Amino acid sequence: MTTTLTIRGLHTTIGTSQILHGLDLDVAAGRTTVVLGRNGVGKTTLMRSILGYLDHTGELTFRGASLAGLPTHQRVRRGIAYVPENRDVFAGLTVAENLRLAERRGAEPRYELVFDLFPELKQRLAQTAGSLSGGQQQMVSLARGLLVESHLLIVDEPTKGLAPRVVKEVVAVLRAVREQSTLLMVEQNLMAAGELADDVVILSEGRIAKTGDRRILANREELRRYLSVARSAEHGVD
Ligand SMILES: Nc1ncnc2c1ncn2[C@@H]1O[C@H](COP(=O)(O)OP(=O)(O)OP(=O)(O)O)[C@@H](O)[C@H]1O
Ligand SMILES: [Mg+2]
Repeated sequence: MTTTLTIRGLHTTIGTSQILHGLDLDVAAGRTTVVLGRNGVGKTTLMRSILGYLDHTGELTFRGASLAGLPTHQRVRRGIAYVPENRDVFAGLTVAENLRLAERRGAEPRYELVFDLFPELKQRLAQTAGSLSGGQQQMVSLARGLLVESHLLIVDEPTKGLAPRVVKEVVAVLRAVREQSTLLMVEQNLMAAGELADDVVILSEGRIAKTGDRRILANREELRRYLSVARSAEHGVD
């Protein structure tokens, strides 16, 4: 199996707090890797480290070449696309302008592909992104990540805060996307994770607690242990 991204000994510190404590992870080419873990364990920090937004140490090897020392824009140019948590669209700009800002010099923008996946956006090109529903904004955010072809698409909690019907729409889009991409995503919604994951990574306190293929998701008892708030923390230690 080919590996698109290899991570060895990733340590990330924010301010004076060490958030990631020596992560090792392989993201397999052509597959979808889903990262799970309780709130605050470092899932977004992992994604932002890969993009080079946060200072980190350790080895990141992307398509056979080291990313060491490369700033974000150069990592993006190598083919890493990022759809951040909380869908950061430009609220005051139109849908068309939001998409245009995702264009990159030297890469053909794939408007046809994007409008095939998100026909509704085509109807709303002149509308400001801030006036869209949460689900529509998530579609704009995903469309921005897909506009230019990438070798690795990183998506952080695309279904967070969306109504169940909209979650299904987002999952349907991502099911189409995963057929032609290498995807690394954070997804806390177990239904969505089950629909999308080939491989699963569970983070706990800035460390990898468990990795394996999608069969990990079938063991609900074990998952609950990793993902639910510990009883002692929930109710106070008694
Ligand atoms: N800019 C920051 N400044 C200080 N601490 C931060 C910052 N960003 C994240 N942290 C801390 O780093 C830890 C990991 O945060 P991170 O956002 O990576 O978690 P997460 O697993 O993505 O959580 P969530 O499920 O809530 O999205 C948390 O303890 C958080 O408080
Ligand atoms: Mg997060």
